[in-house]
Amino acid sequence: MKKKRKSRQWLQQHTQDPWVKKAQQEGFRSRASYKLLEIQRQESLFCSGDRVIDLGAAPGGWSQVVVRCLRYSGQVLALDMLPMNPINGVEFLQGDFKTSKMQERLTNHLRGLAVNAVISDMAPNLSGIRAVDQARSMALCETALTFARRVLAQRGVFLIKVFQGEGFDEFYQRLKVLFKTVKVKKPRASKSNSYETYLLARQLLQ
Ligand SMILES: C[S@@+](CC[C@H](N)C(=O)[O-])C[C@H]1O[C@@H](n2cnc3c(N)ncnc32)[C@H](O)[C@@H]1O
Repeated sequence: MKKKRKSRQWLQQHTQDPWVKKAQQEGFRSRASYKLLEIQRQESLFCSGDRVIDLGAAPGGWSQVVVRCLRYSGQVLALDMLPMNPINGVEFLQGDFKTSKMQERLTNHLRGLAVNAVISDMAPNLSGIRAVDQARSMALCETALTFARRVLAQRGVFLIKVFQGEGFDEFYQRLKVLFKTVKVKKPRASKSNSYETYLLARQLLQ
């Protein structure tokens, strides 16, 4: 009963959310598009011809933004555990990013070429137990970082969603050692009561 009430409440808030309405009007698949659009406007992450990997891509809001920024040139590889409807200019792989099999499949699609940006909006399925969700989220971040270090070009960009909490500071400090610059980004479309924030790292040093 409690669960039903909660999901009714979520649906009501979701349909009244101005970012959701805007996304529907402007043809974006999710309100998440506006987070990436704001960061792109401020930081110029992508340009035509880039090779970009979008982790945790479904339903496709970020991928839509990336293909537009790339002007349908370059390469966009998207991955998610969930299915995703096709987007023109995006190659989609479905599977669990944590498995070495999926990482190998992604790498094979690159045909040995370095990547300009690895972006990750991955979030674990929330259990509602804060410590468990935080640990799962940090584990995803670590896996994404290890992968990014393997495939990124030296001047590449790594943008990742991180939950504030246990492990956040250590992860941030590690990025500061590994990359030339690291910024914390909280775009307007990211709910102020959400623990999520984004870390933007540029130029691999090691
Ligand atoms: C917040 S949503 C991403 C929204 C997306 N960026 C957009 O703009 O539409 C987070 C996604 O991460 C995916 N995800 C979580 N863990 C994953 C994993 N281990 N492998 C692949 N995808 C994962 C979920 O399935 C979910 O679709």
